[in-house]
Amino acid sequence: MFSAAVVTVSDRSFAGEREDTAGPRVAALLQSAGYDVRTRMLVPDERSMIEQTLCRLADEEDIALVVTTGGTGFSLRDVTPEATLAVCERRADGIPEAMRHASMAITPRAMLSRAVAGIRNRTLIVNLPGNPRAAEENLAAVVDTLEHGLNMLRSGPADCAVEHDAVSKT
Ligand code: MTE
Repeated sequence: MFSAAVVTVSDRSFAGEREDTAGPRVAALLQSAGYDVRTRMLVPDERSMIEQTLCRLADEEDIALVVTTGGTGFSLRDVTPEATLAVCERRADGIPEAMRHASMAITPRAMLSRAVAGIRNRTLIVNLPGNPRAAEENLAAVVDTLEHGLNMLRSGPADCAVEHDAVSKT
């Protein structure tokens, strides 16, 4: 079972002006997919605070999967992708590509998500939009396949060719 953390990025929720419903929904989906959700956090749309939070979850808590929700749109305060890329050593572009591809079948506004995913040491960081339904739809598109990536990341070299026939659907 891999560890996970959920980080809600929202000025309004951080200020107590709006209840964070996306974080609990993302956490519930991760739990039902078999993740051990260790922590949920709430940070404002401040790049330095997002970066510090992601670094702490990766470097000090060694969380396998960190999922953020919010701050991926076009408003000037939306800086979650920039903060994520700043702390990642390697990008994992296939994950947001798959999320946007699946979401485009639901709404053309899916193209407006600037979400990214990347790897910092042994931690995979994945951005989701902030709307609770959008966050759930995006995560649902990729959650089953993330485990194979985390196996490669945390358990040494994995032989995709050998495993491919057995798990070709994920
Ligand atoms: N993806 C899905 N599946 N469903 C949605 O409703 N909303 C989009 C997009 N992705 C949406 C979606 C919209 S309207 C925006 S602005 C972006 O996600 C970014 O959202 P954020 O600014 O809350 O992070």
